[in-house]
Amino acid sequence: MKHKPIYYSEYLELDKVLSSQNPKSLEHGNEAHDETLFIIIHQAYELWFKQIIHEVDSIYKIFNQDKIRPNDLSTVNHRLSRIVEIQRVLNSQLRIIETMTPLDFMKFRDYLMPASGFQSIQFRIIELRLGLREKYRSGMSRKFFNSRLKQEDRDLLANLEKEPTLLELVDGWLSRMPFANMKGFNFWQEYLDAVNTMLDRDKLLIEQNKTLHPKELEFELKNLESTRINYHSLLDEKKYNDLYEKGEVRLSRNAKLSAIFINLFRDEPILQLPYRLMNHLIDIDEMFTTWRYQHSIMAHRLLGTKIGTGGSSGHEYLKQAADNNRVFTDLFDLATFLIPEEVIPSLPGEIKRDLGFVFEE
Ligand code: HEM
Repeated sequence: MKHKPIYYSEYLELDKVLSSQNPKSLEHGNEAHDETLFIIIHQAYELWFKQIIHEVDSIYKIFNQDKIRPNDLSTVNHRLSRIVEIQRVLNSQLRIIETMTPLDFMKFRDYLMPASGFQSIQFRIIELRLGLREKYRSGMSRKFFNSRLKQEDRDLLANLEKEPTLLELVDGWLSRMPFANMKGFNFWQEYLDAVNTMLDRDKLLIEQNKTLHPKELEFELKNLESTRINYHSLLDEKKYNDLYEKGEVRLSRNAKLSAIFINLFRDEPILQLPYRLMNHLIDIDEMFTTWRYQHSIMAHRLLGTKIGTGGSSGHEYLKQAADNNRVFTDLFDLATFLIPEEVIPSLPGEIKRDLGFVFEE
């Protein structure tokens, strides 16, 4: 061996890790059995948050370049899928803390005030790095966001706010793709024609449905028209940009068009990695939202309607944050713009060839 042999516990610095569980109730001479669990579960979360930041940072670096090579995309997909697996573990861990009863929690809860998960700076870094800028937070969440943090943590987040988020970098990458305007082939006009044919067919089905009450008929037709407006606003640059300026959509128009194109033609060889990438981002958002809901229900179970140690309304605040603090909603919304396979306009041979793998003798 060229290097010095190393001992397991020294390599992992277990002396530090395992001497970091110091229940406050013990310090106060009134040890609460469950406080050790409470500390360990938070520490386990923070370790996994550290790993998620490690993965997100490496993905961020790849996207923060002018050109992204196919090999890099494969690395990105691999790491995104690892984040999803970590989140799966994080979500299931909440069940462990639910073995603690509200009365057991009360035995040590007051010793923690005003510390709270609110102050998990790593959680905030993940949210912000992914794309949850302060302006996108729900009103209640924005109010509490900075108020409970130390100045150095606030400064750290303020600096991060100045950098592009992963969502914005992904937007740039999608926008650079040529699918908004392809070699003189007006795909989007053909797409709009296909949409109109599809919606006209749906309209006929609704009108011919004799089981509908006049009020239901009116409602269904109105719904159909708002779907039509939705499609048209995507293809009307000015209308779309207005929505973008107002923050009602977070992907720019060209990025959205590329994302739709990738979804429609996901089986074409060069679109497979981008398609998987978008799905991983959707998974990450879904996993975080699931965690937020489960955490809010767990807080309800342990606190009832009491306020949180960080001073928020507790369960109510968490529920609202789960509904609103999402990042990749535009990718979820893509499903609105997908049309059945049989009406998707076919691509000219030259473009189809460009989307395939080229083998030369
Ligand atoms: C007894 C178990 C727990 C209870 C009763 C609880 C309760 C709460 C409450 C009420 C809040 C809102 C802020 C406040 O007023 O304090 C909060 C926020 C938070 N908690 Fe927990 N929590 C528990 C366990 C955990 C665990 C194990 C984690 C893992 C790290 C965690 C992470 C967070 C985070 C990240 C926030 C901020 C969420 C946001 O602002 O969107 N909590 N928690």
